Amino acid sequence: MDLRRAAPATAALLALTTACTGGTVQGTPGASGLRDPYFPKAGNGGYDVTHYGLKLDYAPGTGELSGTAEITATAGQDLSAFNLDLEGMEVESVRVDGKGARFNRVGQELTVRPSDELTKGRTFRTVVRYSGTPRSIEDPDGSEEGWIETDDGAVAVGEPQGSMAWFPGNHHPSDKAAYDVEIAVPKGYEAVSNGVLKSRTDRDGHTVFRWHSPEPMAGYLATLAIGKYAVTASRTASGLPVLTAVRPEEAADSAAALKRIPEVVDWGTRRFGPYPFSATGAIVEDDGTLGYALETQSRPIFSGAPDTELLVHEMAHQWFGNSVSPRSWRDMWLNEGFATYAEWLWAEEHGGPSAEKRFRTFYDEDTDADPEADGSYWAFPPADPPGAEHISDSPVYYRGAMVLHRIRQEVGDEAFFALVRGWAAAHRHGNADTKEFTAYAERQTGKDLSGIWETWLYGDGKPEE
Ligand code: ARG
Ligand code: ZN
Repeated sequence: MDLRRAAPATAALLALTTACTGGTVQGTPGASGLRDPYFPKAGNGGYDVTHYGLKLDYAPGTGELSGTAEITATAGQDLSAFNLDLEGMEVESVRVDGKGARFNRVGQELTVRPSDELTKGRTFRTVVRYSGTPRSIEDPDGSEEGWIETDDGAVAVGEPQGSMAWFPGNHHPSDKAAYDVEIAVPKGYEAVSNGVLKSRTDRDGHTVFRWHSPEPMAGYLATLAIGKYAVTASRTASGLPVLTAVRPEEAADSAAALKRIPEVVDWGTRRFGPYPFSATGAIVEDDGTLGYALETQSRPIFSGAPDTELLVHEMAHQWFGNSVSPRSWRDMWLNEGFATYAEWLWAEEHGGPSAEKRFRTFYDEDTDADPEADGSYWAFPPADPPGAEHISDSPVYYRGAMVLHRIRQEVGDEAFFALVRGWAAAHRHGNADTKEFTAYAERQTGKDLSGIWETWLYGDGKPEE
């Protein structure tokens, strides 16, 4: 709690507490959630994580995952206790700066009480030793995420809340951190995560993979894919490492899209600005493993062979969503609107319909031209989904893309593309919300765009022409 913001009664009470304890300021517990409008318990208050070091061991036969999570964080207040999010698993021990800490668990909240209070500004290291059979988590919209077992292994996906199924952390997109993931699997298995492969070592019948993600990553974008994939490693012309891991059954159907990864990254670089991460690639699971694709950082996951448009969508998220991340889950349209609009842009530059034509198709609900143009995107305003079960619904994607096209219609191509690049640069490796976007768009283009915001972004129903 920040005393300057505390209600007078609370401040008085705290002053009294301080007086009674002889003048030493007493730390208070960090909040158990960040009050996200859709996932209020997601994330935790009072500290900011800078690095996760996960050292894990997975046994595909039994489904058992065990290991340690080493979490480096800075206290944002004097802390007597703090929370991590973890769903399922057994916690064996918690240490803070090398000393055993008390802990207890209620639902997804793992509360840690360090033996010494943590003063504001201090950087501290928490080591959680844990094990168990991680579970999948059902989203409010019915889709499965978290830890998903496959025929011969497992895959971890975390949007919006699945990452707490496989490691403890501050699981809200507003707290991004660097990652190192070390994973041991039985020899013969591959284990693929985000970022750059630092080493791959065989020891005692196991293979240990060490993955490094130096750029900040939101927890929901962390992944681990364990199984018998066909792995290929190469580099783009500019030297960016490309690593793909593909289910052999999907290899033939994936080949055409995957070989365009360097081209799509270069195209995104021209359109959106410098590629934000130190690696790229893809993971292709069997069809039906997830029922959706996810833009896992630097290495998106596909459930079955992707086509080029889907690849473009997930690659565009590397700029929009992964580098510029939402401040809360209310800002999801900034992820999906941009990624969907990127598909429209790619199409207009590669022999498909223009974005203007695609916009008309959707406005006119011309399902002959595009089966997705079914009018479902008028259901609610993209900047204000009516509940957690709607954050991945069609208004967030298609009407989100239409908002961007409306801006382009208003300001023209030159100003529009400068805006897109400027936005990606202004919040590179950070977070941003809808209000920051609308203010930025008006500042950058020098136009009053309030009509677009009122009808297209916040308005109910189909906007009039
Ligand atoms: N962000 C992913 C994409 O658009 C979709 C995730 C869907 N997740 C869900 N729980 N419905 O590529
Ligand atoms: Zn998307």
